[in-house]
Amino acid sequence: MRTPLCDVFGIEYPIFAFTHCRDVVAAVSKAGGLGVLGAVGFSPEQLEIELDWIDAHVDGKPYGVDTVMPQKKVDVHGATPDDMLAQIRSMIDANHWRYVDELMERFELPPLPEGEGAHGVLGWTDDVAHRHVEIALAHPIKLIANALGSPPEDVIDQAHAHGVKVAALAGKAQHAARHVANGVDVVVAQGYEAGGHTGEIATMVLVPEVVDAVAPAPVLAAGGIGSGRQIAASLALGAQGVWLGSLWLTTAESNSGPAVLQAYLEATSADTVRSRCYTGKPARMLRNEWTEAWADNAGPGPLGMPLQNILTSEANARIARSGRKDLAFAPVGQIVGRMNQVRSVRDVMYDLVEEYIETVERLEAGVEA
Ligand SMILES: Cc1cc2nc3c(=O)[nH]c(=O)nc-3n(C[C@H](O)[C@H](O)[C@H](O)COP(=O)(O)O)c2cc1C
Repeated sequence: MRTPLCDVFGIEYPIFAFTHCRDVVAAVSKAGGLGVLGAVGFSPEQLEIELDWIDAHVDGKPYGVDTVMPQKKVDVHGATPDDMLAQIRSMIDANHWRYVDELMERFELPPLPEGEGAHGVLGWTDDVAHRHVEIALAHPIKLIANALGSPPEDVIDQAHAHGVKVAALAGKAQHAARHVANGVDVVVAQGYEAGGHTGEIATMVLVPEVVDAVAPAPVLAAGGIGSGRQIAASLALGAQGVWLGSLWLTTAESNSGPAVLQAYLEATSADTVRSRCYTGKPARMLRNEWTEAWADNAGPGPLGMPLQNILTSEANARIARSGRKDLAFAPVGQIVGRMNQVRSVRDVMYDLVEEYIETVERLEAGVEA
């Protein structure tokens, strides 16, 4: 499974693992892949703690960090998270506040206990994302990735000055070409099937389009990959490696909560939906009563990023607290249909590699026959 990217990053297998969980980062990197920690959910202070932990547990193996810097900026700057939240809250109209109250009542979600606040995610504001980058670059990372478009020029320059490669996700060949023109080193071609924010072109169609659009820049295939056969297919399409996000959510090392974990284990590949109900941008997650309520034409529909997440932050906290699987935010891709068992990262990595080898041998035997 070796490709030139293995030498670039000093890894054994070109398997890149996106995860919000530090234990998964360390486990993947120690198993020969490259763990990439998603920073978006962390305050800058917490990100520092997570990265210190990884440094202490990754045995010197390479790892990366993923930030979310949206192209369209909402101008929120503040000395404290509370300032920023207050600014965002003031941009939300009464109709949307009313609808969320109505939904909390309809689904009988008990109020949060006294003193337990709901903050929402601030990691995708420009201010916080830049602080994430600063912190990440002060650690021995090998890769910095950006979810929503090319990182700004100053971030690319800073990363390169630290000897850190820059990756960016792309759901269209034109976006991929723009990333490379902007100085991005590795393109993650992420197809429609993927968990989290995702576009409309399927991985099978997207990957060769992106490979051709950015050659000779390296491409990682993403979206719907969860087996060695799919890794072999990705390399056949011209990718130099794979970038997996969903598959780690049901590993023993993952911090998925019990209700969400159970929902993942039971779901089929037909049970996901692209919805704007959590972040304001289309993201793939398990379909449930909550996603349906935001798709309902009788409601006001979701707001944009970052307003939607702040609007629903209290409801999301109440849902998380209630442990209700029928409402819980469960971001995941269509590969969830194959995620039916909790297994260690090491076992998952072993199976990916084994099945890849068997597949390549089967293809070679077929060609000779
Ligand atoms: C739970 C979850 C959260 C995600 N959050 C982010 C994110 O914050 N930043 C990012 O670049 N990609 C994010 N993604 C997308 C992954 O980086 C990756 O491209 C995607 O999971 C690949 O498709 P797969 O889910 O079929 O493996 C997320 C994916 C999942 C499943």
